Amino acid sequence: MRRFLVAGNWKMNTTKESGAQLAKALVTEVPEENQAVEVLVCPPFPYLTTVGDIVNGSGVGFGAQNCYQEAPGAYTGETATEMLTDIGCRSVILGHSERRHILKETDANINLKVKKALDAGLQVILCVGELQSERESEQTDAVLNTQMTGGLEGVDAAAFDQIVVAYEPVWAIGTGLTATPDQAESAHQYLRNWLKEHYSAEIADSTRILYGGSVKPDNAKELLSQENVDGALVGGASLKPDLFIPIIQAAAELSAG
Ligand code: 13P
Repeated sequence: MRRFLVAGNWKMNTTKESGAQLAKALVTEVPEENQAVEVLVCPPFPYLTTVGDIVNGSGVGFGAQNCYQEAPGAYTGETATEMLTDIGCRSVILGHSERRHILKETDANINLKVKKALDAGLQVILCVGELQSERESEQTDAVLNTQMTGGLEGVDAAAFDQIVVAYEPVWAIGTGLTATPDQAESAHQYLRNWLKEHYSAEIADSTRILYGGSVKPDNAKELLSQENVDGALVGGASLKPDLFIPIIQAAAELSAG
């Protein structure tokens, strides 16, 4: 049985104070012995330690939104995985569509980061997803195949206990448009099958595949109840406790059966 993961991607939002308030609200609501649902927040780099200190010892983990593939050195503006683990950060989002499309990261760039983050012992949330034009021209599966193949090149089966895949259709991110439960399930099925073909049935079965793209309290339960949806990567709604907590609760209720 795969454990739900509900992760908040704060993107380039919050202040030190509002981020701290948000983290405190989550710590209060999420039980320390929270077995049913793994909960994670990914604040901007300048607030990682502030948020990390607040969630430390609670049922909420914290992760980064990016990292660099080199060891510490002369790479102005970048953040090493060694720095993330040094502050107790245990996860990193890689390959987010905003980094692919705005910052022009390629699958090759993402792959180097994935391998470095895995070597550092971090949990990697690898994001994949198609543009609206790609969906309209029925390229969704081909795009997912390219991004999975490129992002995971050279990654061996033993690393999969650290890997989470997030399906985030680009047209559903921050737009209020959500993939229908059927559209999400069909992409998730494709990804699970991809894992089976390229790795093994065991890895396909145990790897969590999150859905991201305008997840809100009113659509969370239906999306999370799809057989192959193992959690949510939440943007906008993760910035408000009264929206994020009900999404965590929806996952908890579903895992309780
Ligand atoms: P929204 O939930 O704001 O659509 O963002 C989704 C996302 O990009 C999470 O990584």
